[in-house]
Amino acid sequence: MNIGGTLIAGPAAGPLKGEIRVPGDKSMSHRAVMLAALSDGVTEIHGFLPGDDNLATARMFIDMGVGIDWLNDTKTSLRVHGVGLHGLQEPANVLDAGNSGTCVRLMTGVLAGQPFHSVLVGDASLHKRPMQRVADPVRRMGAHVDGREGGNKLPLAIRGGNLKAIRHVSEVASAQVKSCVLLAGLFADGTTKVSEPKPTRDHTERMLPLFGQPVDVAADGTIVLTPADRLTAPDEPVHIPADPSSATFFAVAASLVEGSAVTLAAIGTNPRRDGWRRILTGMGARLDTGNEASVGKETVADVQVRAGGLHGLDVDPQDVPDAIDEFPVLFVAAALADGEFVLEDAEELRVKESDRIAAMAAALRVAGADIEEQPDGARIRGVASLQGGIEVDAHGDHRIAMAMAVAAQRATGEIRIRNAAAIATSFPDFVPLAQALGMNVRWESE
Ligand code: S3P
Repeated sequence: MNIGGTLIAGPAAGPLKGEIRVPGDKSMSHRAVMLAALSDGVTEIHGFLPGDDNLATARMFIDMGVGIDWLNDTKTSLRVHGVGLHGLQEPANVLDAGNSGTCVRLMTGVLAGQPFHSVLVGDASLHKRPMQRVADPVRRMGAHVDGREGGNKLPLAIRGGNLKAIRHVSEVASAQVKSCVLLAGLFADGTTKVSEPKPTRDHTERMLPLFGQPVDVAADGTIVLTPADRLTAPDEPVHIPADPSSATFFAVAASLVEGSAVTLAAIGTNPRRDGWRRILTGMGARLDTGNEASVGKETVADVQVRAGGLHGLDVDPQDVPDAIDEFPVLFVAAALADGEFVLEDAEELRVKESDRIAAMAAALRVAGADIEEQPDGARIRGVASLQGGIEVDAHGDHRIAMAMAVAAQRATGEIRIRNAAAIATSFPDFVPLAQALGMNVRWESE
């Protein structure tokens, strides 16, 4: 696990100001490398997120014989020499997903299609997370999957090949499960169908057609994939929008620090990722949108955030999957808003990089917030400010660490955030970008 690394944060010395572009989208960066690697031809990718999670995905393909040229030192641009759907080589060693659930679950789908043996491992946090949700469907398609707890926990040993298509009715609203089945479906005999209890991020469905693989969505929301037998590298480079999940930290910080005005440039506005804007707007936040544009099959816009106006909200359960990664920092907004914020039907938060309901309740409570943990969410009654001079534990979870750094901007003194090094998994430049906007945050060793 990403244990270690201490952040010292807050309080903000003055208003947050400026315009920034946060790094590329994590979900799309994983998918772009995967589809490029499985294509015939060479794909250029720009705006790639060089976080540890995405680098783990790239490394897995390198370990299976795919050539990747990094086109700049920051690793935001790369050229992937695809080997085609049937060109991966058996890896000589275990494949390490590190902290990344998206990497391991989507790769389960890819590896289920391979006629060789592979073993997926990760860090201590990933070894605690549920994998039955992907092991079960790929087994039904014909892959052999072994792992601890009957295949529910890593390490997973996979021997694939000869897949047959299935109709999968997912019990969890999870884009990782949906994407795993669709990726396995590329190798299956017949038409794969996936339905989910609530719609989730659809980047896989939007990106596959760029590589020549059609995906249909039926009137009832079922996703339908009939394999085209090959993926083809697109002629044009794939551009990845800025990650709304990273932008939300600064949107909440700007809402909370008096006098702030921050512009978040060119961030992804896919409706399945835009729950944070619907929820913050419902809470009275002052958001303005401009420069709306399309990037590939995705949409982007500049979002300006001005301070003030936050009140409580009963979150619409339909919005939960569309903001699933943003709840740690939305809890921070709620902790300092007027009135009560209620979140239900979000038990998935308990099986993320940490138990995010428990981790945020513990950290915010130490800071003097009024938060009541529920099995599937939380009730939060806003207070005027948080307490400083305290220490909290991010539990090796990047989003807990960044959320508490935002909370600290409205504390009466500094907050020490332990086990924050995991920020490198999704947002290696969080601290310098936060500082550029005027947030008070630094690594303890700096
Ligand atoms: C992701 C899906 C979500 C999200 C994760 C990224 C993806 O997980 O929490 O950070 O890229 O498909 P679930 O699908 O498990 O909800």
